[in-house]
Amino acid sequence: MVKKASHHLKVTDFGNDFLWGVAIAAAQNEGAHDSYGKGPSIWDTFSKRNGRIKSSHNPYIACDFYHRYKDDLLLVKALGFKAFRFSISWPRILPEGGSKLNKEGVAFYHRMIDECLKLDLVPFLTLYHWDMPAALEKEGGWASHLLLKWFTRFATLCAEEFGDKVKNWIILNEPFGFTSLGYMLGKHAPGKRGMQNFLPAILNASLAQASGGQIVRSIVSKSRIGTTFSCSEVIPHTHKERDIAAARRVDVLLNRLFIEPALGQGYPREDFKFLDKLELYTWKYTKRMHFDFDFIGVQNYFPVVVRYSPLIPVLQAMQVKAVRRKVPKTAMGWEISPDGFYNIIKRFWSYEKVKEIIVTENGAAFKDKLMNGVVDDVDRIEYFHQHIRALLKAKQEGINVTGYFAWTLMDNFEWSEGYHARFGLVHVDFRTQLRTIKNSGYWFRDFLNSR
Ligand code: BGC
Repeated sequence: MVKKASHHLKVTDFGNDFLWGVAIAAAQNEGAHDSYGKGPSIWDTFSKRNGRIKSSHNPYIACDFYHRYKDDLLLVKALGFKAFRFSISWPRILPEGGSKLNKEGVAFYHRMIDECLKLDLVPFLTLYHWDMPAALEKEGGWASHLLLKWFTRFATLCAEEFGDKVKNWIILNEPFGFTSLGYMLGKHAPGKRGMQNFLPAILNASLAQASGGQIVRSIVSKSRIGTTFSCSEVIPHTHKERDIAAARRVDVLLNRLFIEPALGQGYPREDFKFLDKLELYTWKYTKRMHFDFDFIGVQNYFPVVVRYSPLIPVLQAMQVKAVRRKVPKTAMGWEISPDGFYNIIKRFWSYEKVKEIIVTENGAAFKDKLMNGVVDDVDRIEYFHQHIRALLKAKQEGINVTGYFAWTLMDNFEWSEGYHARFGLVHVDFRTQLRTIKNSGYWFRDFLNSR
């Protein structure tokens, strides 16, 4: 049970222009994985491999958003949100990753975006939320030198198709997330490991992020372009110098690796030796990794506590160990820390070139129980309450944070956790696809109506 926040929170404290939204992603929600012309994504193929995803779950049907988007958008509206963040499934519109276009896939996104506009929901379109066409992964995926060519084709197509209707664009969802889990640790699709995959993937992701921004800006009039970064406050276990140094190395990886090149500062090499291997790239690419983003999407779920340890084999240069503290945690085992959320927002704001911050994801999984048509998820209510209060503090201190997106609308395919981890404001019964608004959903509705 989370500690209760006492202070009463009112939406008016954030001002009239503050944008409240809710986020989803294609691979986690759409389903219809092999219909209407869609090609397989790396998550479709990854989930066929034994033991990669809990209980051998797969994203084939997910929440069936593809067929139910109209009702689901009505839910977004009913909960009082003004903005809706979704992603485009790359293999739905380019099934083989090449130039062959799937018109039916494009038409789906037009219908869905039109529905948002009809309901007066501001669409936030994410180009890449982790579902690369499987055909491209066969040729090396994010680690391939061809990546930029492929991504350019995809980004150009989306900008040309949807640019008249969508003005808020997000280039990548958490480049550190998909490169580290997918190309270094092998825990996410495509399940690759090692520096030989990780290093080219991070370079390509940084280049794609900047060039994607340029493409959208050149095609879409009046666009607002952002990209998102996962981030975590990194806390040294003790004040000993070696713990502090260990925390600094982890901080480079978790928080600085992608934003600093994006802001034109190049890689944060001085604090982390393994990045020296990127020296070859650095001088050549520093400029090309830079883009003048209109906003930075901050995505925070938990802080991490680390200490020095000489024994960790994963990344030898790291020599760190995570410390598990006895504090309230979510069902993912993640520490709950509104202070950590506040601190990391402040930290990202401290970069001189960051002009505007939008929290593009924040939320929590808990072991929800549906009983007599009710999900009384008090822990999630408390989580949102405390985090939104921390956000208000940041805003009142003058940080230009202009929006907040809850993760996520409804329980969905939580990557390698399958359907076990529930993050939604709406409960989904995956056998019947029945939606039930959780009490946290009603809490949000009341909060958003507290004008
Ligand atoms: C991702 C989401 C994911 C959430 C919870 C974020 O890193 O963008 O797709 O569901 O975390 O794990």
